[in-house]
Amino acid sequence: MKNFIFHNPTKIIFGAGEIANVGKEARALGEKAIIVTGKRSSSAHGIINRVTDYLEKEGVSAIVFDKIEPNPRTTTIDEAGKLARENGCGMVIGVGGGSPMDAAKAVAVAAATGEPIWEYVSHGQPLVRPIIRALPLAEIPTLAATGSEFNCGAVISNWETHEKAPLTSPMLFPKFSIIDPELTLTVPRDYTIDGGIDIISHVIEGFFTGDDNTPVQDRFSMSIVRTVMEYLPVAMENPDNIQARSQLSWCSAVALSGIINNGRGGPFPLHAMEHALSGHYDISHGRGLALLMPRLMEYTYQSRPTKFAMMARELFGETADGKSELDLARAAIEGMTQFLKSVERYLRMPDVGISNDMKFRRMAEDTIRIYSRNREYLDNPRPLYKKDIVRIFDNCM
Ligand code: NZQ
Ligand code: ZN
Repeated sequence: MKNFIFHNPTKIIFGAGEIANVGKEARALGEKAIIVTGKRSSSAHGIINRVTDYLEKEGVSAIVFDKIEPNPRTTTIDEAGKLARENGCGMVIGVGGGSPMDAAKAVAVAAATGEPIWEYVSHGQPLVRPIIRALPLAEIPTLAATGSEFNCGAVISNWETHEKAPLTSPMLFPKFSIIDPELTLTVPRDYTIDGGIDIISHVIEGFFTGDDNTPVQDRFSMSIVRTVMEYLPVAMENPDNIQARSQLSWCSAVALSGIINNGRGGPFPLHAMEHALSGHYDISHGRGLALLMPRLMEYTYQSRPTKFAMMARELFGETADGKSELDLARAAIEGMTQFLKSVERYLRMPDVGISNDMKFRRMAEDTIRIYSRNREYLDNPRPLYKKDIVRIFDNCM
């Protein structure tokens, strides 16, 4: 197990109805907020009105910026940052899925500095500008998926260059996040599924790329994946099931909070490749992960048979029965494929609207340039060179 420092200062307020506490919590952060949210769902379902009412009751005024698109863009963030500065906002509250929550983090920087956000995003440039100022931030997730509510990262897209890349800083931990699973009852079927796949990816990537001697992290991971595999179908069948929504919401928050991957380390090649996909084609993050996951597992399993065999046993009930470790490892891929089919996410490129391979080489180059830290390959138990990434994209056709 690797050495690590774990410092996650975000206060989590969890439970149905807890959104009512946003005013009391926000009062400690400032007198005027900018609420950063998506274009439709949070307003349409009355969440924004509720938040502004709760804030007002505690003497906190707010302006609302409701233009954040899925896969949030630099231009929109810069616009929101400018609005926050012009209106003297002293804090940012993100309300929505990962896109508005990530955008809120970026707006916290853009508003505090007045600088274009792209300079702070790590997109392969030699020197990334360090974040030394950001407005205090709070998050209210309405979709169980990214875990942005409990970490200090964001993913930002530059639609001019089609690069999608990370923005991270300890300054971007939310001061508090209110995880109220009732807010997720309205999430449509497709995004409920995509969110579940995202949560699973956040723990299994580190599971099969990270250190070997990490039983507590690995068992934590398997428990999260099993919980999502159990409750995602329940939420698909019955979107109003608050128990299922609560389990998915807590899995979402914990998965990428640091708790699971501490000490195990391990790169995130699946996410790196997916960001190139959604950076170029603007597809749903969870759908892109679902598309790439079985193909990356296929590429990797022989380099990590023990981890894959554990997956087969823990997730899919496989028993040794005279099988070799490699047989078991292969069974994990088959099990995951069957699970993806059962939740309507065993996909091919045309299922997400991609019908030719014209951008695959460029996407592979972007992946390596943005995520490889100056190496010629993307880190993975079996390294991924440009040709390998192109082949994985091809295999998804
Ligand atoms: O856009 P609105 O109108 O808000 O509607 C959204 C959007 O259409 C809708 N939605 C959200 N909550 C809803 C709802 N509809 C009805 N009822 C609700 N309660 O769902 C759609 C998708 O929303 P989005 O925020 O884009 O989805 P998601 O949570 O999957 O976020 C994806 C973004 O997060 C990044 C992804 O790359 C992508 O840009 N990620 C952020 C991470 C992080 N900060 O730690 C890690 C992740 O791996 C990921 O990369
Ligand atoms: Zn993700």
